[in-house]
Amino acid sequence: MSFRIQPPAPARPNRCQLFGPASNAKLFEKMAASAADVINLDLEDSVSPGDKDAARSNAVDAINTIDWGRKTLSVRINGLDSPFWYRDVVDLLEQGGDRLDQIMIPKVGCAADIYAVDALVTSIEAAKGRGKPISFEVIIESAAGISHVEEIAAASPRLQAMSLGAADFAASMGMATTGIGGTQENYYMLQDGARHWSDPWHWATAAIVAACRTHGLLPVDGPFGDFSDDEGFRAQARRVATLGMVGKWAIHPKQVALANEIFTPSEDAVTEAREILAAMEEAKANGEGATVYRGRLVDIASIKQAEVIVKQAEMISEG
Ligand code: COA
Ligand code: MG
Repeated sequence: MSFRIQPPAPARPNRCQLFGPASNAKLFEKMAASAADVINLDLEDSVSPGDKDAARSNAVDAINTIDWGRKTLSVRINGLDSPFWYRDVVDLLEQGGDRLDQIMIPKVGCAADIYAVDALVTSIEAAKGRGKPISFEVIIESAAGISHVEEIAAASPRLQAMSLGAADFAASMGMATTGIGGTQENYYMLQDGARHWSDPWHWATAAIVAACRTHGLLPVDGPFGDFSDDEGFRAQARRVATLGMVGKWAIHPKQVALANEIFTPSEDAVTEAREILAAMEEAKANGEGATVYRGRLVDIASIKQAEVIVKQAEMISEG
């Protein structure tokens, strides 16, 4: 065990982040009425360059006028390689009220990217006397981002969450795919002539989870582009949940229920986790560090695994 204790991630539900282009103000009330834990109004890639100003002013209005309930409200700003991002930050923080919780920084490549946004945000907060500090979330979606993922995760106490953006990531890596996430036809192994598909996103997913867990952030899977493919979404969501991610984006409202279904621990899983904790309590009372539950070994590590599930369920029921 390291001398340094692993910090907990923010204790808020993040099963689903629903995106909508801020240029399309008609969507805002529908987004607010959805069952998503997090709302992401987009100023970046779903908004064409000619619509950037209108989208920014729509986002400010949406922060100030829409009832977002208890959802985490986040706006995705433009990338630091664009001429738009500084104006996004300035307008959101000067004109948007305290209902704004978070800004999402896309295409982050190194810790200095976060430093730059942090410096601007900190200055505006002080100048305007803003009451609530803005938190950050980032998207890892480039070769540089994944290469520097650990320093990025450590870059600012404002950081709460980190998402994998599969499409830009694939493009930056030069991957031979055009799908946004999920199974890729040519990524297979052969066994006795039969094809077995494996997961081309596995390494990036696990690297993001490790960086997030080391620094107390929420690891999240980005978009699944084919919103007609429910089973494809479920399969992708189940794999990343298995690897430690806490939620997934929705780019269409029908994906919200799918994400909530996968990232809400099932009643059976919660019951089993509680039974494991009870079995371990009993073992401890008998002076034992391990015991048998339903025919399999459970030990002190099992307590921690079970506690993850129970805590997640409690947080969701409180939310
Ligand atoms: N949030 C809330 N509601 C949404 C929505 C969203 N992101 N996208 C669509 N809807 C609504 C539609 O307005 C429609 O409502 P209605 O029944 O009241 O008319 C309903 O859901 C069904 O929509 P549908 O016709 O199936 O989709 P569409 O053709 O209107 O829109 C997209 C499809 C993909 C263009 C749209 O879902 C979208 O803009 N998604 C977000 C894209 C994005 O933000 N990308 C950036 C992150 S990768
Ligand atoms: Mg992107």
